[in-house]
Amino acid sequence: MLSSISLAFTLLLFSSGAIAVPKPLPVAAGQSIPLVRRAPTPRDATEWEIWAKNEKDKLTIKYGGTLPQKRSEGTNLITNQNADSSFYGSLAIGTPPVSFNVILDTGSSDLWVADTSCSTGCSRVSVFDSVTSSTFQNLSQPFTIQYGSGAAAGSLAQDVVQMAGFSVPNQVFGAVSQVSSGLLNSPVSGLIGLAWQSIASSGHTPFWQTLAGSGAWTQPLMAFQLTRFINASDVRPTEPGGSFTMGFVNDSLYTGNIDYQNLPSTPTYWILPMTAMTVQGNAVTIPTGTAADSAIDTGTTLVGGPSSAIQAIFAQIPGSQPGTGNWEGYYTYPCSTEVNVAISFGGPSWPVSPADFQLTQISSSQCVGAFFELNTGGSAPSWIVGDTFLKNVYSVFRYNPPSVGFAALSQTALAMNGVNAAAPTPTIGSISASATAGLGSNGSGVSPRLSFSGLALVAATLVRVFLL
Ligand SMILES: *[C@@H]1O[C@H](CO)[C@@H](O)[C@H](O)[C@H]1NC(C)=O
Ligand SMILES: *[C@@H]1O[C@H](CO)[C@@H](O)[C@H](O)[C@H]1NC(C)=O
Ligand SMILES: *[C@@H]1O[C@H](CO)[C@@H](O)[C@H](O)[C@H]1NC(C)=O
Ligand SMILES: *[C@@H]1O[C@H](CO)[C@@H](O)[C@H](O)[C@H]1NC(C)=O
Repeated sequence: MLSSISLAFTLLLFSSGAIAVPKPLPVAAGQSIPLVRRAPTPRDATEWEIWAKNEKDKLTIKYGGTLPQKRSEGTNLITNQNADSSFYGSLAIGTPPVSFNVILDTGSSDLWVADTSCSTGCSRVSVFDSVTSSTFQNLSQPFTIQYGSGAAAGSLAQDVVQMAGFSVPNQVFGAVSQVSSGLLNSPVSGLIGLAWQSIASSGHTPFWQTLAGSGAWTQPLMAFQLTRFINASDVRPTEPGGSFTMGFVNDSLYTGNIDYQNLPSTPTYWILPMTAMTVQGNAVTIPTGTAADSAIDTGTTLVGGPSSAIQAIFAQIPGSQPGTGNWEGYYTYPCSTEVNVAISFGGPSWPVSPADFQLTQISSSQCVGAFFELNTGGSAPSWIVGDTFLKNVYSVFRYNPPSVGFAALSQTALAMNGVNAAAPTPTIGSISASATAGLGSNGSGVSPRLSFSGLALVAATLVRVFLL
């Protein structure tokens, strides 16, 4: 098992061209060889240096450590599922690596995938088979994570995880046997939490934080560009979703400056205070203090916030009304109204397109808005700012100094919105791996618009809640 780990890492080093194996030099005729100890291989200074690094790395791996990797950067192509309901990427687990689609979730901090024991909530989903991985280790500890409406449970495990060309040899993740219905929609097998370790249900270091903390990235940050298909006429279950980068920002996807705002001193979620909001150009009153705390959350479809603020938004829209039945907590408004909301988190005011504000049409004249009332309670942030907002900016999640940055999307990025194309195939950067079990890459098969209201209610609350 350990030698397999070492082998995997050795290959990684070779692929980056960072190191060569010291070769024994030919022994000259007549040279005396000490008899007492094993003959040391003659090495020049460079070879000694390489040998020393190899020995240190082998020991580090053997005792479960993580090696500093060559500073680098990588891109993972995202899939937009069911008309902006969720955005997933791909990673690979095990030796040999097997790839899985996972929701990219900056609103939680655990990695989990459904495994072969999964009995509920995993139909039509590719599952992880630990038997096929030579580097798999079962930690045999229970794992449970609770989201706003749904949960996943199983046991903790450890294996090599690779994403966007990066590899963590001993990543802890949940091998999940039970998933709440609706949390996973084929072809998604799990979720990667991209928030901070302090809120990890497992208590273990998230994949991204291991990389950022070990100096593996050229720049200590990750960034998202998310596409919009919600108002496209012929949207399919999966469409190109934009890109997720680790270690760099892609300069061709934004214009102007990235405005960074610092996180509170002990990072948990990616939290910024919401400092101002306008609707149709008019300022609306939003709560201050801790009630302004907003989780910037790629794993949430919509924007949830305090009731008083949501009421204040719709008070600016003539003809709006609180929703009823399943739409309780939402508001309806005349579809003919183009609603322009803009939000500031201490820096520039970022506009949300009317297309993102208009969640769906529910009658001949009425539409439902994408901002809804949310009572998070406990220590969770008051606002959950999801993809409804994030589709409108290039967003950067910076490890050091801990902060979130936003920039305006470039024309190149905007040109990807609503353009039908094949969704990306799973990639893990330089190492290619293909998914097991050909379960097809289609979504639920239900028309995206119709399934959206159901999905939104689930995905909109895909928010980790603290368990006391
Ligand atoms: C890990 O061990 C637990 C029992 O401790 C077991 O329930 C679980 O199925 C095992 N997981 C895998 C993936 O082998
Ligand atoms: C940056 O984004 C552009 C536009 O999507 C893309 O063509 C390019 O490959 C990206 N660069 C990297 C390094 O990912
Ligand atoms: C979708 O909305 C965006 C932003 O408001 C707009 O630029 C685009 O033209 C809309 N697309 C369609 C097909 O209506
Ligand atoms: C996916 O959906 C398309 C139509 O939307 C259908 O033609 C195709 O057969 C489906 N593929 C699978 C694998 O279900």
